[in-house]
Amino acid sequence: MVVLVTGSSGQLGQSLQHIAPNYQEIQFVFCTSSDLNITDIAQCHSVFEQYQPDYCINAAAYTAVDKAESEPEKAYAINVTGAKNIAEVCKAYNTVLLHISTDFVFDGTQQSPYTEEDIPNPTGVYGKTKWEGEKVILQTWEKHYILRTSWVYSQFGHNFMKTMLRLASERDTISVVNDQIGTPTHAVDLANALVQLITVDNQQPTTPNFGIYNFSNEGQCSWYDFAKKIFEVNKIQIDLKAIPTSSFPTPAQRPAFSVLDKSKIKNTFGLSVKNWEACLV
Ligand SMILES: NC(=O)c1ccc[n+]([C@@H]2O[C@H](COP(=O)([O-])OP(=O)(O)OC[C@H]3O[C@@H](n4cnc5c(N)ncnc54)[C@H](OP(=O)(O)O)[C@@H]3O)[C@@H](O)[C@H]2O)c1
Repeated sequence: MVVLVTGSSGQLGQSLQHIAPNYQEIQFVFCTSSDLNITDIAQCHSVFEQYQPDYCINAAAYTAVDKAESEPEKAYAINVTGAKNIAEVCKAYNTVLLHISTDFVFDGTQQSPYTEEDIPNPTGVYGKTKWEGEKVILQTWEKHYILRTSWVYSQFGHNFMKTMLRLASERDTISVVNDQIGTPTHAVDLANALVQLITVDNQQPTTPNFGIYNFSNEGQCSWYDFAKKIFEVNKIQIDLKAIPTSSFPTPAQRPAFSVLDKSKIKNTFGLSVKNWEACLV
């Protein structure tokens, strides 16, 4: 079985490379943005022609949430046109597509965990382009799994955990918002969940479960709680202050509440999901 991964130098891409040796039955093809630029449809075709993948994990994305507000065309090109190109080439080669989306498709006004049936209403450019990307996949190629995830972190790439650890080495005091509630997702857990979906899909090719699924770790917290736990686990003494979002204005508005309900993915694929705090230790 050949699984092609786009955006392989990102957090999720590197996490997939990290777990790949555990899945000897899968031949992974890892493509960086220079091996495969998803905005270039001709390159998409030539790479798929070369590797003939059974599955494609589209880990490529424009993920700079605040920067997207000032460069919407670039975010659109990667998150919408790029997603469309990948869906088209998957259709041409009968490749099952696993695409990653985000909790930022929601406006965050709900007070209970978002299910896959809740109606997106993104507030920023990043969330809007990710939702457009989902819709273009739905319209283009039925053999898709779209995983919406949240607050992704890992030892790889750029993320909140690494920012906190860097700031702690530079400052005595750090202020973090405590009125945005969500769930951290360890990128390695997301990577393993994607491979489990592939494994189940590959064993049951006649009863596919294509569609949209939520995936994050279990539980919920604020960014302040997340930072507190990061420092606790790393035994870092720091003056950590809880502040409201109004004291930390950013170009993009973020959802105040974006906890995702994981019942569908757990029931369909038999996934057991770790609590977010357990992943940090
Ligand atoms: N990070 C989060 O907190 C978070 C939360 C919810 C959902 N997600 C979603 O999860 C997925 C993975 O996120 P991540 O954190 O792993 O992102 P990431 O670390 O920013 O990695 C994104 C990757 O996409 C590549 N890329 C950018 N433009 C490309 C193009 N035109 N063609 C091919 N590759 C391109 C980048 O390559 P270069 O490095 O070469 O530019 C990078 O390796 C994304 O779909 C994201 O929207 C992330």
